[in-house]
Amino acid sequence: MKKVQDYYFKKAKQENYPARSIYKLEEAQQKHHFMKPGDKVLDLGCHPGSWSLYAAKIVGAGGVVVGVDLQKSNIAAAAGAARIEFIRLDIFDAGFISLLADSLPFQVVISDLAPKTSGNKFTDHLKSIELSRRALAIACRSLCRGGHFYCKVFQGEDFPDFVNEVRQSFSKTKIVKPKSSRVESREVFVLGLEFRGR
Ligand SMILES: C[S@@+](CC[C@H](N)C(=O)[O-])C[C@H]1O[C@@H](n2cnc3c(N)ncnc32)[C@H](O)[C@@H]1O
Repeated sequence: MKKVQDYYFKKAKQENYPARSIYKLEEAQQKHHFMKPGDKVLDLGCHPGSWSLYAAKIVGAGGVVVGVDLQKSNIAAAAGAARIEFIRLDIFDAGFISLLADSLPFQVVISDLAPKTSGNKFTDHLKSIELSRRALAIACRSLCRGGHFYCKVFQGEDFPDFVNEVRQSFSKTKIVKPKSSRVESREVFVLGLEFRGR
């Protein structure tokens, strides 16, 4: 398994991405095509910026990517890619949606939000579910009708409830376990396609 991780680490370095997590988004995008040229994408938990860079490449110069994280990312999009605006902010900030008001609505919300892991699977699962529920609430406030949501979650006992909550707001829901995600890791990604609207 270490070999697989080294493979993605090296690949990310060669392709100038700051983190190998890029491939957890790329694999889903290549299969489900939920980001399109010209889209506006909101990237929650964006630091150090691999997902934002990849999304900027997919949506191209006519699109926009807004990346939000507790930490400030300082990377520039490649030539021909969308402009990326990085915002340093806690997603639980009460003024979160109003701060994004000028960019609304988004066609896609992606979330790779992760808590600081404690090593206790149950606690880490609960923290991850809390982040994922907040990401879903933000998506439901900021997506246009027909928009899409792709979100990382650490599996555990509340996971089926979370998937049902996504199902209520999106016409199609899929659970994605990318090859680049370690088999022993409890992380999976929930993809909500075609937002039903508010
Ligand atoms: C796995 S990293 C994201 C990697 C990123 N997708 C990439 O490809 O470069 C998870 C991020 O979630 C962020 N995060 C966790 N809790 C947050 C919160 N409450 N508000 C904003 N960002 C948060 C962390 O700071 C961390 O940078």
